[in-house]
Amino acid sequence: MNFPTTRLRRMRYSDVTRNMIRETELTANDLVMPLFVCPGENVKNPISSMPGNSQLSVDLLVKECKRLYDMGVQSVLLFGIPESKDEHGHVACNDEGIVQKAMRAIKKEVPNLYLIADICNCEYTTHGHCGTIVDGDVDNDLTLETLASQSVSLVKNGADMVAPSDMMDGRVARIREALDEAGYTKTPIMSYSAKYASAFYGPFREAAESAPQFGNRATYQMDPANTDEALREVELDIFEGADVVMVKPALSYLDVINRVKTEFNMPVAAYNVSGEFSMVKAAAANGWIDEKRIVKEILTSIKRAGADIIISYHTQDIISDLKR
Ligand code: PBG
Repeated sequence: MNFPTTRLRRMRYSDVTRNMIRETELTANDLVMPLFVCPGENVKNPISSMPGNSQLSVDLLVKECKRLYDMGVQSVLLFGIPESKDEHGHVACNDEGIVQKAMRAIKKEVPNLYLIADICNCEYTTHGHCGTIVDGDVDNDLTLETLASQSVSLVKNGADMVAPSDMMDGRVARIREALDEAGYTKTPIMSYSAKYASAFYGPFREAAESAPQFGNRATYQMDPANTDEALREVELDIFEGADVVMVKPALSYLDVINRVKTEFNMPVAAYNVSGEFSMVKAAAANGWIDEKRIVKEILTSIKRAGADIIISYHTQDIISDLKR
């Protein structure tokens, strides 16, 4: 049917028809808010490159979780800044670790908030790499052991889901095995399956104090130029038992999100990372953009590309505008 019989503008004249045919609607159910927990009491260290986000000590973190939950946030992703670091990140595998303590405290005060634990070594190692170093590089198979024990300890202390972000080969299978052996057969794994070696993580590394002290993460995180490799990563993780597969970052990788969603019948998560967040905040602070509208558009585009779950630092700013 051609013009003038067909006029696509007809359905755009009324709010009602626009609302009726909208394909993608962002809801509060889609969003996860990342949070950073640090040692001490009554500590709030604002993260300068991520306005509105801070490292919080456990007591303040619990209050923040309560505030977020009351606003409609259903789930948070926790990152820890430990008191001390070691060569292998063993400090993350301890029931008295910072995230373990935080989770116990949150579960007491805000029991229905769904807690996701990031599983990785980079915040806990002196060298800032995501695993155990042998001959100047991260040793894959040794790292699997710390990831497995970190996972078990976090679930034991309140994590409802674990999310390994290290990019070691075989970690989903190893973590699944360790959780099952410990009796946690019901705890899902959300794997950072296609995690790219991205400059968009810059602000996060300030927030989590996790920048590598030598070299970079190119031997374990993916080359931003590749998508076939992303599908192989996802396929392996599904085979190893991942319940959710993640693409990260989100905005420069919408094509990857879309390929993953169309090729596999799997829940897909996307991480709208720190650099993506900071760029929006910087432009908004200059009065160059309408922040609310931009954020809604960005998050809707990530969902439209195929993401079921969106992890975003914008969550707290947008959640009250969204339906459940
Ligand atoms: C840890 C981890 C990183 C992020 C999440 N988990 C940083 C990294 O790989 O260097 C980045 C999150 C963000 O930028 O918001 N491995």
